[in-house]
Amino acid sequence: DIHPVILCGGSGTRLWPLSRRSRPKQFADLLGDETLFQASIRRVAAKGFAAPMVVTADDYRFVVTEQLDEIGVTPRAVVIEPAARNTAPAILAAARLVAARDPEAVMLVLPSDHAIPDAAAFRAAVAEGLAAARDGRLVTFGIRPDRPETGYGYLELAPGGGDGAQPLRGFVEKPDAERAAVMLAEGHYLWNAGIFLFRADAVLAAFAAHCPDLVEPVAGAVDAAEPDLSFLRLDAAAWSGARDISIDHAVMEKAENLSVVPFAGAWSDLGDWQALWRVDGGGTVTHGDVVAIDCAGSLLRAEREGQVLVGIGLTDIVAVSMGDAVLIADRNRAQDVKLAVDRLKAEG
Ligand code: GDD
Ligand code: MG
Repeated sequence: DIHPVILCGGSGTRLWPLSRRSRPKQFADLLGDETLFQASIRRVAAKGFAAPMVVTADDYRFVVTEQLDEIGVTPRAVVIEPAARNTAPAILAAARLVAARDPEAVMLVLPSDHAIPDAAAFRAAVAEGLAAARDGRLVTFGIRPDRPETGYGYLELAPGGGDGAQPLRGFVEKPDAERAAVMLAEGHYLWNAGIFLFRADAVLAAFAAHCPDLVEPVAGAVDAAEPDLSFLRLDAAAWSGARDISIDHAVMEKAENLSVVPFAGAWSDLGDWQALWRVDGGGTVTHGDVVAIDCAGSLLRAEREGQVLVGIGLTDIVAVSMGDAVLIADRNRAQDVKLAVDRLKAEG
């Protein structure tokens, strides 16, 4: 069986004010009647997959168990990080835990902030990458780009290609706008979907080779981890020696044994309001108690029950009203919500 590892420790600041540090986007029902976290879990609650390992922050441990309960999934483990250190330490810790039982076990690392409506097509893509992963390759999943997005990683295809998993020539994490435009124009790049398939021992070896300074602190935190109720709490003292770095920078940009499975199904990282607007079909998108008159290209969300949101003559605007905060922004500046959150944080 494939061992799913779900990462859900991020705080999703660009979806403020809906996403808060206390309850980030992955635990909200942004799209339908289940949360993004639940959808991620359910995507791999299928034949051929073992029970999921969830890696999260202390603050989210009860949301995690509550939301797992709601969909009737018993996790293999809920691992708690003493502090958020980005995806590399989280994945390294998971790999060490998986390898302790079976070094050759194949792990599927999944973010919890994605919309992938066709779960069966997604599982078929995973199955396509399995042989390469068993062979020791680090398998990524590639999305055909349609704009020079700077928020994603880019996978450089090697000539030749072929069916199923193909070897990759390179990996560029979050390029600047100029480089993104060049890669889009060159045509032989795919977006990195942020989902990875590899053997536990293969990714451990990649960390040892490309990011050796993480190995000792993370191994220490795993080896001294304490069970707490149904949680596994990584050791804080050891963990504090791990620096903040993503798997993309720590390993993927450097490794030479990368492969990619192109994924043709719909895929979206719901990182900001613009992405959410796009997934909902563009045009004027409303949620909740909203009256929109002569609006175009706008996303209007009334998140508080009993409070109506009215938009008149709006073009390319995002408006989100909550009980304690209201966001009104140019939709094309959705990335800059982060600036507002930083400022609010600074002002305490
Ligand atoms: N447990 C844990 N701890 N999870 C974390 C942490 C952490 O410290 N930091 C982030 N995560 C989780 C997030 O909740 C999310 O589900 C996932 O890891 C990915 O983190 P993001 O911060 O959303 O990454 P990104 O979107 O900027 O970039 C990654 O994904 C893109 C596609 O969505 C990269 O892999 C890019 O290359 C890729 O294109
Ligand atoms: Mg993301």
